[in-house]
Amino acid sequence: MDLILSVVGCGYLGATHAACMSSLGFRVIGVDTDPDKVAMLSRGELPFYEPGLDTLLAQEMKTGRLSFTTDFSAVADADVHFVCVGTPQIKDGLAADLTYVKAAVAAIAPYLKEGALVVGKSTVPVGTAQSLRSELAQSAPQADLAWNPEFLREGFAVEDTLTPNRLVVGVANDRAEEILKEVYEPIIALGTPWIRADLPTAELVKVAANSFLATKISFINAMAEVCEAAGGDVTVLAKAIGYDPRIGNRFLQAGIGFGGGCLPKDIRAFMARAEELGAKQALEFLREIDAINLRARQRVIDVVRSELSEDLTQYKIAILGATFKPDSDDVRDSPALDISAQLQAAGATVVVHDPKGIEPARKRFPSLQYSESVTDCVKAADLILHLTEWREYRELDPSVLGPLVKNKIVIDGRNALDRDKWRNAGWKFHALGRTD
Ligand code: UGA
Repeated sequence: MDLILSVVGCGYLGATHAACMSSLGFRVIGVDTDPDKVAMLSRGELPFYEPGLDTLLAQEMKTGRLSFTTDFSAVADADVHFVCVGTPQIKDGLAADLTYVKAAVAAIAPYLKEGALVVGKSTVPVGTAQSLRSELAQSAPQADLAWNPEFLREGFAVEDTLTPNRLVVGVANDRAEEILKEVYEPIIALGTPWIRADLPTAELVKVAANSFLATKISFINAMAEVCEAAGGDVTVLAKAIGYDPRIGNRFLQAGIGFGGGCLPKDIRAFMARAEELGAKQALEFLREIDAINLRARQRVIDVVRSELSEDLTQYKIAILGATFKPDSDDVRDSPALDISAQLQAAGATVVVHDPKGIEPARKRFPSLQYSESVTDCVKAADLILHLTEWREYRELDPSVLGPLVKNKIVIDGRNALDRDKWRNAGWKFHALGRTD
């Protein structure tokens, strides 16, 4: 059987999934309610920046296998429907907003053919899949529902989709697993571990993974605080503990902490759901993980004040980086922009540079000043703050920047710049978690 796939929700996750599944040879129909997004994708243009995905999308559009539409009835031909819509944090609490997931399933329900499988990929509170499956049993009894969490990282979206480190499927029966095995057959053939779970476990795997990653980052940032107090160096500490394979050296990069559309909201939604389930105490530690993370943003502002003055009104601060991580134009809950906005609110003149994120940043923070070039950004600055570790910032020549600024002070909020290189060029260099 040649399966036809639909992808509901064509944002980061959905657009990536649609293009990648098309590249495996499937006919894929992408549906989204946003006509502008659909128009762009239909032209083979990506509405966001993701390395490699632009080329893949353009290539797949040419094959004729991949199409995008706002018309939900177009999914009627599909056998498998991947739900890839967002689950943002609700406005007035910690929980996840399930409006879009529920709306997506309701919108495709009338078009589900006999034997169709709806596959949730969105990150949802545990129990959501079971309740959607029960609803579907009423609205579309001819269909079934499974959950298949996605672990892709922005910046590596294509690689993580086509060569993931595992595939996790939450299913209620063998048939659903067989269909998913058919979809992922080329990926399974690479030797990718396949984990069959029940629906709640599959949902939990995702939030547990993101909680663990968030914990690792906050752990090292807590160590950075202690290093600062005790006169130590967190980068050396991280390297040293990372050699223990039980600990591992990844995700131990101390700095201004995690942001983005996933880690912060996922740990909060997990806490909210645990409380509903009567397991609040089990996840109490995540509250501290969140607090350490937000404190890292404050700590960098404290360093700026100690370098310049309590009163920042006379100072120009050049910010390198706006996105929540490099190789992405995503500025959702970006620590860099949060810090920029706080410094501006404190009276400083703040100019922000980013290789890809200026337009999205301007939409969220229109009152900040932006600069298209690093040299313009740092001109006459009293201090440079490095907040997103883009490669181009590591490659900057501090001896070239020196004559442009007012004060040669740089604060590395990501522990990614070459300290010796900056110091040798006459800069006062400060990094989070390093006292020297
Ligand atoms: C994260 C997870 O890593 C993915 O596995 C998951 O699929 C995704 O969320 C999701 O739920 O959709 P992503 O948000 O792309 O992926 O970003 P990460 O690479 O996890 O980085 C998150 C934040 O942590 C960034 O702000 C990054 O700068 C920060 N970080 C990361 C650190 O501060 N230190 C580190 O050592 C690593």
